Amino acid sequence: MVESITDKFGRPIRDLRISVTDRCNFRCSYCMPKEIFGDDFEFMKKDELLSFEELERIAKIYASLGVKKLRITGGEPLLRKDLHELIARLNQIEGIEDIGMTTNGLLLKKHGKKLYDAGLRRLNISLDAMDDELFGQINDRGIGTSRIIEQIEYAISLGFEIKINMVVQKGLNEHEILPMARFFKTMPVTLRFIEFMDVGNDNGWNFDKVITKKEILAMLEDEFDIEPLNPAYYGEVAKVYRHKDAESYLGFITSVSESFCSTCTRARLSSDGKFYGCLFAVEGFDIKQIMREGISDDELVEVLTGVWNKRDDRYSDLRTEITAENRRKRNKINMSYIGG
Ligand code: GTP
Ligand code: 5AD
Ligand code: SF4
Ligand code: SF4
Repeated sequence: MVESITDKFGRPIRDLRISVTDRCNFRCSYCMPKEIFGDDFEFMKKDELLSFEELERIAKIYASLGVKKLRITGGEPLLRKDLHELIARLNQIEGIEDIGMTTNGLLLKKHGKKLYDAGLRRLNISLDAMDDELFGQINDRGIGTSRIIEQIEYAISLGFEIKINMVVQKGLNEHEILPMARFFKTMPVTLRFIEFMDVGNDNGWNFDKVITKKEILAMLEDEFDIEPLNPAYYGEVAKVYRHKDAESYLGFITSVSESFCSTCTRARLSSDGKFYGCLFAVEGFDIKQIMREGISDDELVEVLTGVWNKRDDRYSDLRTEITAENRRKRNKINMSYIGG
């Protein structure tokens, strides 16, 4: 058994979230607003990205330090060429028990089968509204909800276990909470409501735009007969409820109203090979550089252990104590760069 390393607050390392590209085919205003991520925005070049060999090597080292779960993110991960080859490699790593992917779903019909055959079993698919027009506005590419529903149905038919992620923003899509809940109640999925977060520097966040779990739960309990479940494992991000009269679930991700930093076991790897100890981190540790300079596996184990041992991030716990001005001044990494 692997003896897991711990950080400054005694938190073990369990999950590695791997961003495989900083590109996306959507331009959600809260993540990659068009004004910033326009035609002249410089995305990473191919040789700046970690190769599949490098990703496999890093994942192996982290597995030896206690990581059991991998999550593939982006940008939009389905834009990374031959992604199924990476999944097949990661699936072979000893100690890795679970691999998931977070995607906007648009390219699932194109790539889903290859990914399933390579061993991927779990998909978290983002969808913020049932209304075609509103969803087209939110993704700012005019892609309607029905296009994504088709992909979800296809992915279910392949056998994937699916969660739907809905980011709720006051004044934008709160009236879509019940329509989403009604629709997905009849499908074998977990629909999760995510409190809008102040990720990156460009998403126009403030406390007034957040609808909390408490508010959403009250709306849902008015209409549905649901009951809370115990966490499925230590540090589970979502709080999950079961429909008593259907084979589907609802969940909440309460990063703002009930932060969960004290059990945060997640390391993040950007597509250009930097380690981040937190979604709201300002600086990363450049693993790619030391790997390309020729570091050995033993040395890498030692260095990455040291990096985790020093980790003291707990941004969401501190959010309410930081003034709005200091929040603005903090130069956080972008969500599309680190994958959420
Ligand atoms: P599961 O393994 O399926 O539970 O995945 P997940 O919920 O951890 O991953 P997903 O990529 O679907 O993320 C859902 C939401 O939770 C996104 O808005 C993420 O940004 C957010 N999230 C995931 N991990 C963290 C975290 O460590 N801190 C914060 N603040 N938010 C997180
Ligand atoms: N707040 C909360 N969740 C967000 N996501 C993207 N931006 C935000 C934000 N500002 C979600 C996406 C995706 C997941 C990785 O994070 O919708 O489901
Ligand atoms: Fe793309 Fe997801 Fe960001 Fe939307 S939230 S722009 S789909 S990476
Ligand atoms: Fe982990 Fe940072 Fe999220 Fe807290 S805010 S749960 S430390 S990623």
